[in-house]
Amino acid sequence: MPRTTAEIRQAYLDFFKSKGHAVIAGASLVPENDPTVLFTTAGMHPLVPYLMGEKHPLGRRLCDVQLCVRTQDIDEVGDMSHLTCFEMLGNWSLGDYFKKGAIEMSFEFLTSQQWLGIDEKMLAVTCFEGDKDAPKDEESATIWESVGIPRERIGFLPKAKNWWGPAGKTGPCGPDTEMFYWVGPSVFPPSRSNPENDDANWLEIWNDVFMQYNKQEDGSFVPLAQQNVDTGMGLERVAAVMQGVKSVYETDAFSSLVELARGVHILDDTELGRYVTRHVRIIVDHLKASTFMIADGVRPSNVDQGYVLRKIIRRALRSIRRLNIEVHADFETRMYCSVIAQEIIHQYGDCYSHLQEKSREIYQTLNHEEGQFKHTLSEGLRHYDKTVLKTGMTIIDGATAFRLYDTYGFPIEMTRDLAAEGHLKVDEEGFKKAFEQHQKLSRAGAEKKFAGGLADHSAETTKLHTATHLLNAALRKILGDGIWQKGSNITAERLRFDFSYPDKMTPEQIKQAEDFVNEAIKADVPVSYSVMTVDEAKAAGAIGVFESKYGEKVKVYTMGGDTELGKNSELGQKSELGRNVPVFSKEICGGPHVAKTGMLGHFKIQKEESSSAGVRRIKAVVSGGPQEIEVATEAK
Ligand code: SER
Repeated sequence: MPRTTAEIRQAYLDFFKSKGHAVIAGASLVPENDPTVLFTTAGMHPLVPYLMGEKHPLGRRLCDVQLCVRTQDIDEVGDMSHLTCFEMLGNWSLGDYFKKGAIEMSFEFLTSQQWLGIDEKMLAVTCFEGDKDAPKDEESATIWESVGIPRERIGFLPKAKNWWGPAGKTGPCGPDTEMFYWVGPSVFPPSRSNPENDDANWLEIWNDVFMQYNKQEDGSFVPLAQQNVDTGMGLERVAAVMQGVKSVYETDAFSSLVELARGVHILDDTELGRYVTRHVRIIVDHLKASTFMIADGVRPSNVDQGYVLRKIIRRALRSIRRLNIEVHADFETRMYCSVIAQEIIHQYGDCYSHLQEKSREIYQTLNHEEGQFKHTLSEGLRHYDKTVLKTGMTIIDGATAFRLYDTYGFPIEMTRDLAAEGHLKVDEEGFKKAFEQHQKLSRAGAEKKFAGGLADHSAETTKLHTATHLLNAALRKILGDGIWQKGSNITAERLRFDFSYPDKMTPEQIKQAEDFVNEAIKADVPVSYSVMTVDEAKAAGAIGVFESKYGEKVKVYTMGGDTELGKNSELGQKSELGRNVPVFSKEICGGPHVAKTGMLGHFKIQKEESSSAGVRRIKAVVSGGPQEIEVATEAK
């Protein structure tokens, strides 16, 4: 039976391979072409187009291992089971098997002696209890009973618990059934206990989602054309179960990291021991997330993914400081974060080879942030002296405590300690208020920012997505092949395209790019895709991300040329058949796109500006096309 994290990961893929699933590569932590979320938060995320009905090149049964980042539970990191960065094992049915198939396979993998061999007496499940949007999921409960889960171990819970998705505001979603392992004080769960009535003693390990609805802008749920299954199993939690340990941090994957992070401290059950344990876990979890984020191209900044990265590095550094690890001998000579990162790369390098490739960047980025934070911390102390000590404040008011937290990265505990030294008090209520106010504001900002987008697959978004390909091709033609896409963010209102280029574009170059795109629109050429291997895509001259992240086979969208043949002449050349149709664009992409370029109407660049060093940003719109569009399909 598999025991180590690596063995469980492999067993999962082997099991689903034996059930006819194709193994696909996990996607980047930073979603490509999807502005609805900052990070990949579940394995289903990169698969949204296929859950919506796009054909997947590898078929209707898929499985993978997806590294995920979730920050909504960040305050719980340090307990038994919460991580901001974890691996999710997933299997999917794209309109193939549904509830029966999914539940039977889950049960077999969990309990069969050939696979995990978990005693079924230790398992319980939950199903959706039903509401105005969807009926009670009796069907799943009956299937669970038929495989051997007794009624008393089946709980029914509302949408807040047993419903998954959409990942953004709109998109695929549906009821789910979740599987739990007994972690209560007795050896076996007492009769009638299940997660509906005894939540605290059951640990969720797997979730089978039945994605059969598409949530609309207006909040309604429309049945999807195909019934999908999307499952996600938490690898670290299953490892804890298989290894018989209480916490994910005690599993094989974490033990050397915890050992390193604890330094001279003792992790026992005293109050101090528990306090230290929590901080050690925060250090390990946050630096693991940071290491993987940096490897996927995120850099600390004050916006978007970069902001999250900066926050978690600082949180890790605060915990390091709480433990006074800076007095550790290593601290003077080496940056602390990269010492931990080195062990993370060592631990995960076999499975995630890009960590090794990016190790220099990882160390440099962490060292830089660490150096900067130490500086900020000194500045914060100066600010503290000036605003608190010198003014003779006796109670540190909420606004001051919040400013120390937000601007100088002082955790409230640190402010509390400082206050105690000077026999001062902290207005904790005021701090909480200022904090909540800030959260409300940033949530409102995030919602506004991520509303709409490619994941909604509206006509306008799809048009702009197609226009983005044409713009990419235009830029390469006009500015040269040194142009690389650095980012793309498409909403129903506008496209935003970032690309590597050192100089500001001249008005002529901007005009030429617009002309190229409008010429392609005027030519009203067909758009279609072909499925091929990455090597074939390269040989065909397609641009795009060539890393194996997309799985072995990819979709290549071609605009113009002999699209029916699925192979095309070079960009801008006439087709082999001598038809007078140039190929305007050929790019690896998941779709969707409009079926004919004429549907775009008219293309206009609204802004060309600097995005960051060596990266330019274009914002552009289309107008005047039809309201209803047809979507590009596979080339015949
Ligand atoms: N999307 C579901 C989850 O994250 C199942 O993969 O739990």
